[in-house]
Amino acid sequence: MRRAHLPIVVVGGGVAGLATALAAAPAPVRLLCRARDGCGSATALAQGGIAAALDPHDSVAAHAADTLVAGAQHNEAAMVAWLTAAAPAAIDWLQAHGVAFDRAADGALQLGREGGHATARIVHAGGDATGAAVFCALREQAQAASHVQWRGGVDVDGLLWRGGRVVGVRTRDERGRHEQVEAAAVVLATGGIGALYARTSNPPGADGAGLALGLAAGAAARDLEFVQFHPTALDVPGHCLPLLTEALRGAGARLHDDAGNALMAGVHPLGDLAPRDVVSRRVAAVQAAGGRAWLDATAVQGDWEQRFPTVLAACLAHGFDPRRQALPVTPAAHFHMGGLATDADGRTSVPGLYAVGEVACNGVHGANRLASNSLLEGVLCGQRLGHGLRTAVAADVGVGPLRVIERGASLPLAELAGLRALLWHAAGPRREAGALRDAWRVCAARADSGWQARLAKALLRAMRLRRRSLGAHWREDRGCPS
Ligand code: SIN
Repeated sequence: MRRAHLPIVVVGGGVAGLATALAAAPAPVRLLCRARDGCGSATALAQGGIAAALDPHDSVAAHAADTLVAGAQHNEAAMVAWLTAAAPAAIDWLQAHGVAFDRAADGALQLGREGGHATARIVHAGGDATGAAVFCALREQAQAASHVQWRGGVDVDGLLWRGGRVVGVRTRDERGRHEQVEAAAVVLATGGIGALYARTSNPPGADGAGLALGLAAGAAARDLEFVQFHPTALDVPGHCLPLLTEALRGAGARLHDDAGNALMAGVHPLGDLAPRDVVSRRVAAVQAAGGRAWLDATAVQGDWEQRFPTVLAACLAHGFDPRRQALPVTPAAHFHMGGLATDADGRTSVPGLYAVGEVACNGVHGANRLASNSLLEGVLCGQRLGHGLRTAVAADVGVGPLRVIERGASLPLAELAGLRALLWHAAGPRREAGALRDAWRVCAARADSGWQARLAKALLRAMRLRRRSLGAHWREDRGCPS
């Protein structure tokens, strides 16, 4: 049986899902999002920008080298070479799709600098509102595209399975009604897992639901232990915290402790612009010793409304004026380097199932993602996957009875809050064997109560198995058997 007439189903409306959907034209695409308006992905919250070697003194090789250093050389080198070489074309593609990047008076693109980058190579839009600019432009394109049928307000809670392959999805709408959608291919573009932690820079929907679904279908996972913590979320009460972009430190902001001592002095040659894992651990160490870390951005020059409007608004909303006072900061779960293992073309180990963006792991980020490489990956891997799927739509549908592989019930809210706290304490920026083992046991005991506990168990297993520190996976007890 052929299924050329069936749509490609893309689950998730962030940058990776949107780029996949647009690039798949003219193949029909059904784009499914949890939020009615398609908002709610981490893309729209991304501040810093998109890395690309555009300065005449910069080079693709230098961008690749910084990516490999940040990733602790755990990266797929071929993917890094491809991503960094294609980065300038990604900027062109985004501009052609309506993204207006910030420009200097002479018309040249403004380039910012962030942690781990040896030079200024971050293209940005709306000052620190790059993600929102990318999201709005691509969403507009996708909503206008005749080959894309958009549906918001639905959760994909099951995968349709026939004859050893994924052949569609089961959706659940806001009123709890289920629908089955058969597909030529299913693409998970559901984002990361930050919201499984008690403190995150991600939106609430970045809860690992797509990863859990892929694992339920038997898809292979890779590098699940590598979770990046952003060092400077605003330290206010709450779960999803405002981000204070690393570009602030690129523009002169500095970290200090309660006594005003420079936090990063003597810790790393790049000081305040050291890779994120290094800065996050330093901030976490100050907190563990009972202190607080502060980001002093009062020396940042220029017009805050133009350059950092998102940070300014978020700080003022919480009663802090970053132009006049230091800001309390905390690490927060920010990005998952691990995910469903894919090849360079987004194929998972399960026929018919693809993954792209943060839910996927093709190895490009290694053990720790370089700043501003994530929107870049979403654009380029989405394009690559979308192009590939244009011709993949004539695959066989498989034979045999249709069945639904379910993600399963969610944890009750009180238990979910407990799980987030557990992961924060055991699986945060600093980890050790006993806490990982105890947390794993709690999750194993709760595995039948909700999919989040099963997913956390899988994450903790990977963290326990990697006994030595690497990149963002820091073992305080490095070398000890667990
Ligand atoms: C930031 O603006 O600091 C975050 C950017 C990123 O995650 O790459």
